[in-house]
Amino acid sequence: MDPASRTPYGLVNDGALVVADDATIAWIGPVDDLPPELLASARTVEGVDGGVITPGFVDCHTHLVYAGNRARDFEMRLSGAHYADIARTGGGILSTVRATREAGFARLQAASEQRLHALARSGVTTVEIKSGYGLDRETELTMLRVARSLGARCGVDVRTTYLGLHAVPPGFTDSEAYVDFVIEEMLPLVAAERLADAVDAFCETIAFSRAQVARYFEAAQRLGLPVKLHADQLSDGGGASLAAEYHALSADHLEHAAPEALLALAQSGAVAVLLPGAAYFLRETKRPPVAELRRLGVPIAISTDCNPGTSPLVSMPLALNLACTLYGLTPEEALTGATRNAARALGIGERIGTLRPGQVADLVVWDVDHPREIAYGIGMEPIRAVVRHGQPHYRGDSR
Ligand code: NIG
Ligand code: FE
Repeated sequence: MDPASRTPYGLVNDGALVVADDATIAWIGPVDDLPPELLASARTVEGVDGGVITPGFVDCHTHLVYAGNRARDFEMRLSGAHYADIARTGGGILSTVRATREAGFARLQAASEQRLHALARSGVTTVEIKSGYGLDRETELTMLRVARSLGARCGVDVRTTYLGLHAVPPGFTDSEAYVDFVIEEMLPLVAAERLADAVDAFCETIAFSRAQVARYFEAAQRLGLPVKLHADQLSDGGGASLAAEYHALSADHLEHAAPEALLALAQSGAVAVLLPGAAYFLRETKRPPVAELRRLGVPIAISTDCNPGTSPLVSMPLALNLACTLYGLTPEEALTGATRNAARALGIGERIGTLRPGQVADLVVWDVDHPREIAYGIGMEPIRAVVRHGQPHYRGDSR
């Protein structure tokens, strides 16, 4: 698929794709136009009869490193308790913090690896993983190290994000004191050890205020770290305009974003990352402003938000289906959102996310007749193979 062409999905019928020795795409186009010398010099030639090739998925917002689970919260919510109430009484994020602090590196790695393998089997070749369930010096660093270690174990490229401002941990009665600790101790440490590619915060009434996040973003940017934001997920806390003001890579969730903040977001160049798994799991009925984002030309990305509390989701095709059924995205928008726009949300759109010469050859070979089928199935993952850096990686069992 060539995004520059104007055919729906950028689809190239009877296409060919050449991978160079450096694992980038050397050539792509109709097979009839393939330069004969490229075919003659090819070391291996593989046919993809009847299949469709897309870029590998980029899951640009996950919290997949954690211990324990939150099935108890799920049960409580189904008996009438609310997410924010559970959080205020020490359940929610803080219960995962307790389990994650207790787990230690090896257990954390083993639990997280299973989730990343599942995502990889569903077509993910690049994943973003956040910290934020340690909230103390040692466990936050452990989470980031576990995240980095998973790349080689699961054959997925990992981008890490320090989510220092996720919740106020036990031991800090005052949220300002915790923000001070994060700014004075954690950010310099994370930057010096090069453990994070970006930083994130939860701007919400049950988490951190706009002013606190602004202070944190300023400190991060002084250290050269790009920022992104959990913006307006549960209420309008001015997150979208804050993300715009700080030129965030992305503003994520956005269900309650104020319409007037979206113009600033559009002008800032941020990507809107939509996380329909969380809306589904929390039975949230407020929808993100998709029509307005489209009208303003804000790129929309889709991600699993894989996390224990609001989105225990480990399938990208299912995230695409939810984006279509819950948010009204077209299957084409969902696919673009999980590839090109998701790569852009991580600031690496130059390297991955599309099938263009020069991009890394991260591909999924689908057992479908048309790319619209990728978002269509509920729990179907019709994958024949996942190719990472030009090498076949997972072989699906759909044939
Ligand atoms: O993206 N909103 C904050 N972070 C996660 C939820 C974390 C949790 O509940 O454990 C989210 O939804
Ligand atoms: Fe999240």
